[in-house]
Amino acid sequence: MAARSASLTIAAMNTSTPSSSGAQGAGSAAAASPASGSQSATSAASPASGPQSAAISAAAHAFPRIAVLATGGTIAGTATDAANTSGYQAGVVGVERLLEAVPALSSVAQIQPEQIASIDSKDMALALWTTLAQRVNALLASDDIDGVVITHGTDTLEETAYLLHLTVKSIKPVVLTAAMRPSSALSADGPLNLLNAVTVAASEAAHGQGVLVAFNNRIHSARDVVKTSTYAVDAFQSPEVGALGWVQDGRVEFQRKVVRPHTVDTEFVIGAKWPNVEIVVSYAGVSRIGVDALVAAGVRGIVVAGTGNGSIHASVQQALADAVSQGVVVVRSSRVGSGHVMRNGAASDDALGFVTAGSLNPYKARVLLMLALAAGGTGPVALQKAFDKY
Ligand code: SIN
Repeated sequence: MAARSASLTIAAMNTSTPSSSGAQGAGSAAAASPASGSQSATSAASPASGPQSAAISAAAHAFPRIAVLATGGTIAGTATDAANTSGYQAGVVGVERLLEAVPALSSVAQIQPEQIASIDSKDMALALWTTLAQRVNALLASDDIDGVVITHGTDTLEETAYLLHLTVKSIKPVVLTAAMRPSSALSADGPLNLLNAVTVAASEAAHGQGVLVAFNNRIHSARDVVKTSTYAVDAFQSPEVGALGWVQDGRVEFQRKVVRPHTVDTEFVIGAKWPNVEIVVSYAGVSRIGVDALVAAGVRGIVVAGTGNGSIHASVQQALADAVSQGVVVVRSSRVGSGHVMRNGAASDDALGFVTAGSLNPYKARVLLMLALAAGGTGPVALQKAFDKY
């Protein structure tokens, strides 16, 4: 799907304090007092003279320019009833209305909105990942953009975030955000999440931290963050390692740094072709039918979501060993949700020719395997190095 640039620019480079705190649903956007079109800093700021006014004017012009790319999700969802937080249609509210619901944005950044897609993120497609990553890279290559915010559905947010973490070629901030409640809901969480995401993207501290997720006041690394609840507004957590920092009331604080390489320090580039990599799960009574079908379909890689420390039912393990002998790459991960998979722990990886995912969950392991294969990676030894590194 081609990216569509919105002609509306909700850039209000003013220094006035908005009358509303912006924690409103998009459904109440008409009642809010959104910034009225593109205002120049000089016309919006109160007239003053002398050196101090020059400083004020320069500061007003210095608002970071943040591109907000909308892709859909619950943050752009509506229900017919404000009390309904589960039966709604995702991805139907446009980016302009999302921004209008947050007047406080005008005192944080100069916003350039763009509607990339309008989907429920369960339907995220590889072609859309290519479009999104290429658009983010193009925007960040421009001197006119200081950072990017992406509004996304929560369901596959952690996969998109990790993909961008490995393929964005810039140290400028990229921040994903989302919502657990539709824009029409009582206490919708989208507007404050959006304001916080823009605040993080506009902050100097976010430079060089890789792709970030701002959600429920916390700032997470794309590598670590996972969705952990079907309904709670604190759905996103970084198991084992915790959040990188927090954002509240305009203040951004990082409490640790990302150690593993990302963005400009990876060999990965986004291309139009994606190697076919699928995920299988190990569970009581599982058969080898799924693995055999994938191999027959010609997959290049299989990620197995094992039990416990990535242990695999004997029938599936034999099928995966057979897959390796036919040139399929097998990555052993865990379905547990936190912790890491030890190489040669619950399976003899060296003997079986498997790669282990370490602390990546199966969905992120699939993203890394696709990128590593697309970059020409072959063989379990070289691919294990990529998993140990990223
Ligand atoms: C989606 O992932 O697009 C729907 C669910 C959500 O955003 O919470």
